[in-house]
Amino acid sequence: MALKPLIAGNWKMNGVGASLDEARAIAEGAAALTSVDLLLCPPATLIGRMAARCAGTPLAIGGQDCHTEIAGAFTGDVSAAMLADAGASHVIVGHSERRTLHGETSALVRQKAEAALAQGLVAIICIGETLAEREAGRTLAVVIDQLQASLPAGADGHTVVIAYEPVWAIGTGKTPTSADVAEVHAGLRAELVRLLGADKGAPVRLLYGGSVKPSNAAELMALPDVNGALVGGASLKSADFLAIAAAV
Ligand code: PGA
Repeated sequence: MALKPLIAGNWKMNGVGASLDEARAIAEGAAALTSVDLLLCPPATLIGRMAARCAGTPLAIGGQDCHTEIAGAFTGDVSAAMLADAGASHVIVGHSERRTLHGETSALVRQKAEAALAQGLVAIICIGETLAEREAGRTLAVVIDQLQASLPAGADGHTVVIAYEPVWAIGTGKTPTSADVAEVHAGLRAELVRLLGADKGAPVRLLYGGSVKPSNAAELMALPDVNGALVGGASLKSADFLAIAAAV
């Protein structure tokens, strides 16, 4: 099934008010890129301003994480309801930096994804193996396990996106071979169809993430069952991010 690719940028803890100019440049460039969907996920402090600055353009805005609850005594956290209120349409959950640095388990990621869906947000669920797991030949087992445990009730092609991001490829400049990416994506697609049925599992977009840049985007995005990219570092510069989107 040919799915419309999604190119999503994850700014992580980067970006202040001045960076909104980069977002605006991406939003303006997005108008010419009608065969892909474009999304930027800035830090929570910029979501409202970015949504206002990019209103009326095809660029969607998302959060990078959300709490499992709508509101309450959770100092420092942001809820899916707040992200939606600020203008977000998507939220990343289970990024490896959250799993590793904040001890997030797949069970928690699933609850976060369910909170996102309850607020009408699309949940971008990240999964991926460590280098040790890859070297032990456990990549497929690890990512399928994460997929099974992280997938929320109500998952389908409209509500969730899966991002396969090998932990060792994030921010390192290293990427798996095309054959390795294709093998993992085929395995994930088969598991999505097994879990959700073909009608719901086949339309779920599967993104690749980890050191995607303008020079490798075309090869990665041409692989079967790669339906877009989750881009970290290269999403901070509008020219790079737009070049990646144009390479699809
Ligand atoms: P990177 O990050 O593109 O800088 O490797 C990807 C990510 O963490 O989503």
